[in-house]
Amino acid sequence: MSWISGKERAAAVRASLKAQIEKNHLQPTLAVLLIGTDPASHLYVDLKQRAAEEVGVQIRIDQRNSCSTDEAIACITAWNQDPAVHGILVQLPLPQGLDTDMIIAAISPEKDVDSFHPKNRADLLAGEARFFSPVHLAVLHLIAATPLVLNGAKTFLLAKSEIFSEPIAHLLRKAGAFVEVSSTIPFPTKLKEAQLVITALGQAQIFSGGMFAENAVVIDISTNRLPNGTTVGDVEAETVLETQYVSPVPGGVGPLTIAFLLKNVVDAAAHTIPSGS
Ligand code: GUN
Repeated sequence: MSWISGKERAAAVRASLKAQIEKNHLQPTLAVLLIGTDPASHLYVDLKQRAAEEVGVQIRIDQRNSCSTDEAIACITAWNQDPAVHGILVQLPLPQGLDTDMIIAAISPEKDVDSFHPKNRADLLAGEARFFSPVHLAVLHLIAATPLVLNGAKTFLLAKSEIFSEPIAHLLRKAGAFVEVSSTIPFPTKLKEAQLVITALGQAQIFSGGMFAENAVVIDISTNRLPNGTTVGDVEAETVLETQYVSPVPGGVGPLTIAFLLKNVVDAAAHTIPSGS
């Protein structure tokens, strides 16, 4: 099979960002709010920090074991008002009891580098996106690396979260794909008809290669942790067919998503350079 690797592509995006930062003397800064003790969230923030440091994006992490919704909003408000901060990210999922929608809505849309703010999501649907969500950019970039033509492609988008599925479904439909969104595993004969499957179900190895069309392109967004500590996707890697294109987990969507997050921060910093400098 052809693995659609994100690692080399992410390295290329990071190298180009590093060159852009140096050439234009930018000082892009990303502020990250990390609440709680979820090991996966801590790992993701760690990976973002390492990539940011490599590229030359400064990163400020406010890590709290617990806090209230009001305290989280106060932290975001301070970053909104700080001209040295170009991008703000709240690591999700938040611990139970916190109001995720209110907290995300507190981020200034100009600094919402995840593009999760309701205004940015609405602007995307209206064709006026300020930022594209990094994970969506990563998915589109990986699809573009395959022979698949999106125009007319039968597509299954498997996701539980509407924050994720709505914008990417819109972007794929704009490119001419026929997109069906489902939060559960599709009926087997319908799944086999799809030329493109994007899965974010978060259920370890629920799919095998034989469940997809022979030449399907499968983008696996999930990172599931097995009891032995191994990270796997929704697709069982060993069963993928020679003729299929599948993004690996780890090393597929993940590193590219981080690279495109940093791109959004650099773009935000580039737009806020005072004129004349
Ligand atoms: N948790 C898992 N993926 C993401 C992401 O892309 N952004 C944020 N903020 N949290 C996440």
